[in-house]
Amino acid sequence: MPKVVHTVAELHKILLPLWRKGESVGFVPTMGALHEGHVSLMRLSRTGGNAMTVVSVFVNPLQFAPGEDYDEYPRDLQGDVKVCRDAGVDVVFAPSVAEMYPRGFVTWADQDKLTEKLCGGNRPGHFRGVLTVVLKLFNIVRPTIAYFGQKDYQQSVIIQRMVTDLNLDLKVQVCPIVREPDGLAMSSRNVYLGPKHRTEALVLHQALERARELVAGGEKSVKKLHGEVKRIIGTAKSAKIDYVAIVHPETLEDVNDVSGRTVIAVAVRFGKTRLIDNVIVE
Ligand code: PAF
Repeated sequence: MPKVVHTVAELHKILLPLWRKGESVGFVPTMGALHEGHVSLMRLSRTGGNAMTVVSVFVNPLQFAPGEDYDEYPRDLQGDVKVCRDAGVDVVFAPSVAEMYPRGFVTWADQDKLTEKLCGGNRPGHFRGVLTVVLKLFNIVRPTIAYFGQKDYQQSVIIQRMVTDLNLDLKVQVCPIVREPDGLAMSSRNVYLGPKHRTEALVLHQALERARELVAGGEKSVKKLHGEVKRIIGTAKSAKIDYVAIVHPETLEDVNDVSGRTVIAVAVRFGKTRLIDNVIVE
């Protein structure tokens, strides 16, 4: 069983001997409701030569805008601990909101430009909350390497940028998207989908796969790719597109044509559930 700790002091007691010896700490930050996507990150940490793997489970209120799903977000610490046990995780850090944001907390991490694009446009303040909690978690865990999933592509870019800009002493590893057998990207929010929306949500992967095929076949036109992705997503009656973006992998700026490594990212609502997915094309 992993050790489950709720305070920074308890966690530091465990980590201090490793820090002193300069041993490698692998870290997987999560909001819980763990699924195979998270497990793939834990496995990479386990097999990546780390002396210890720490998973944080914390539903971060700072990254939810008013009216978003903070209250409904699935929480099941016992279930999460079992998943961590099966994945060979050493420590689960599950702090309370008061532990992370004690009375008087007023300091934030933020970033220009990158946070305004894609999901930033639809979720104001979201990335400020993400950056703040991730910076705090990095300072608390002091990992050698932190693992993030490619599904939250923009998040991974923004975090890597923060690590570079603020000279944080750790490596970030971004790991491939894990999918259900039918192609739906794994997400803690998939549990919100009723049967109709669950079936309709398959259009995301279908649209991105079609775009990948078109690029592999030589298509460079952003307009055509955009049109095709939107058309396929539109075949799902209840799909409401937040964005379909075809962007540079680091700057997240729109590209004029697909002439190098490019990210095609989508955010779509099915009823109240907002799903994101992406594909990297060359
Ligand atoms: O990707 C997530 O689950 C969250 O945004 C993160 C990185 C754990 C910060 O709360």
